[in-house]
Amino acid sequence: MKYVELSFVLSEKDYLSDIVVAKLNEIEFESYIETEDGVNAYIQEKFYNKEKLNFVLSDLQKLFKFEYSVKDINQENWNSNWEENFEPVEINEQCVIRAHFHEKVDCKFDIIITPKMSFGTGHHETTFLMMNEMFDMNFKGKLVLDMGCGTGVLAILSKMLGSKDTLGIDIDEWSYKNSKENAVLNNLNSIKFLLGDINSVKGSFDIVLANINRNVILSDLDRYYQSMKENSEILLSGFLSDDVKLIREKAESLGLSLVSHKNKNKWNLLHFIK
Ligand SMILES: C[S@@+](CC[C@H](N)C(=O)[O-])C[C@H]1O[C@@H](n2cnc3c(N)ncnc32)[C@H](O)[C@@H]1O
Repeated sequence: MKYVELSFVLSEKDYLSDIVVAKLNEIEFESYIETEDGVNAYIQEKFYNKEKLNFVLSDLQKLFKFEYSVKDINQENWNSNWEENFEPVEINEQCVIRAHFHEKVDCKFDIIITPKMSFGTGHHETTFLMMNEMFDMNFKGKLVLDMGCGTGVLAILSKMLGSKDTLGIDIDEWSYKNSKENAVLNNLNSIKFLLGDINSVKGSFDIVLANINRNVILSDLDRYYQSMKENSEILLSGFLSDDVKLIREKAESLGLSLVSHKNKNKWNLLHFIK
């Protein structure tokens, strides 16, 4: 499989890389690696659209100055790049995410993720926010939907927290396959995964997890709502502070009530109940 790598050199890396990632998320870029002086973004060659990218770049150029370069890479290069850079992530005192080549960690929730090209290792603020919120919820015996499952990390945690059944769905074939592999690495073979989008959702759920992006959440939120049972909960993330108002208004207009709003750097999580 071929990928396109976009490398950014940024003056204020921590602050500006969030804005770059949020914008690229909207045009189907799917994974990111922080570098010494900026951020690298990756997209499958078949989804790469130069016109859309130019549009985003000119938007960003209005906001701040940066340098960038584009190159084609293969999957093996991405994997070795990632392996060199991946350190275990501590989500909280009970939970660590690590790769299979790291030593086993002595904690209650030791999650093994080999992400390959998929998003979701706990390094990103949104995954971190979602997982932390999940620790404050009751998953015992619940039916859980993880939309945009990426590496499957949230689906895996939901099962470890006691869900009865968890279904993970991702629109990207690589993520779908990677989620299945990661579930097996964690001996959680009962989690179901589907390749698809909101149209693949059948039935109703007690908890919906959707860490995707602003545009998908705004367009699919009414369908997530329909898949929620009475009193069920939904966690939304993948958007920046500027988008909170719009997403909150849309959720409340559907009849959802806000339980909590958290943020980390510029990234946000909204937790609602039906
Ligand atoms: C920000 S990542 C989140 C991954 C993981 N759930 C986590 O929390 O780390 C978003 C994922 O949503 C997927 N995605 C994008 N649009 C989607 C859609 N319309 N329906 C389902 N999945 C989608 C992407 O392929 C990507 O894997």
